[in-house]
Amino acid sequence: MEVENDIILALDVLNRTEALRIVESVSDYLNTIKIGYPLVLSEGLQSITAIKEEFNCSIIADFKVADIPATNRKIADVTFEAGTDAIIVQGFVGDDSALACMNSAEKYGKDVFLLTEMSHPGASMFLQQHAEDIAKMGVDLGITNFVGPSTKLDRLEKIRSVIGKDSFLISPGVGTQGGDPKDTLKFADALIVGRSIYLSEDPKKAVEDIIGSIKS
Ligand code: XMP
Repeated sequence: MEVENDIILALDVLNRTEALRIVESVSDYLNTIKIGYPLVLSEGLQSITAIKEEFNCSIIADFKVADIPATNRKIADVTFEAGTDAIIVQGFVGDDSALACMNSAEKYGKDVFLLTEMSHPGASMFLQQHAEDIAKMGVDLGITNFVGPSTKLDRLEKIRSVIGKDSFLISPGVGTQGGDPKDTLKFADALIVGRSIYLSEDPKKAVEDIIGSIKS
């Protein structure tokens, strides 16, 4: 996946018109949009199809899929049918569940991102202790796309060391949650940024500011 300017927009708005307006305003700079439950539960999976058709961008569905293999497979199939390019899958549910999503991705010629560890403080209660094992499981399964937190750079560095330099690592938590764009890109290939962009009065300028801070 070629992520323009190394920035992925997390489009966690609840309204399709607003979503389209925001994507339009940043489309000079960004070509990859992450869409999760907020938009899809309020406006349907068709909102993914509509954004993809209008802007010809890559869409990552952040559904953090975490069910038994048979259900994961159904979730992944309908998500890819809607035009999604990649789906984010939780690793803690185990290899069979992740494999079900990989099989779906293979059928549709799409990608899976494996979530290793999360960016919020509560992730240190349970998930953090197993993040490196989850990353290793992904490597053993042949997964090459991973998600790791920008808010904990020591953890992001560890995850990078497990998945190797050739895997593609995307990192949420930049901006509102405290992660720094430039520091995060020492270990990650692309940043996921939501509120700092879509809550800005001028989303385009917010993106320009992030690009500026990366280049400074
Ligand atoms: P903000 O508004 O904080 O949005 O810039 C961050 C986006 O990323 C999602 N998020 C995560 N997704 N693993 C993920 O797969 C994580 O550790 C993680 N932390 C945050 C969040 O839902 C929002 O869309």
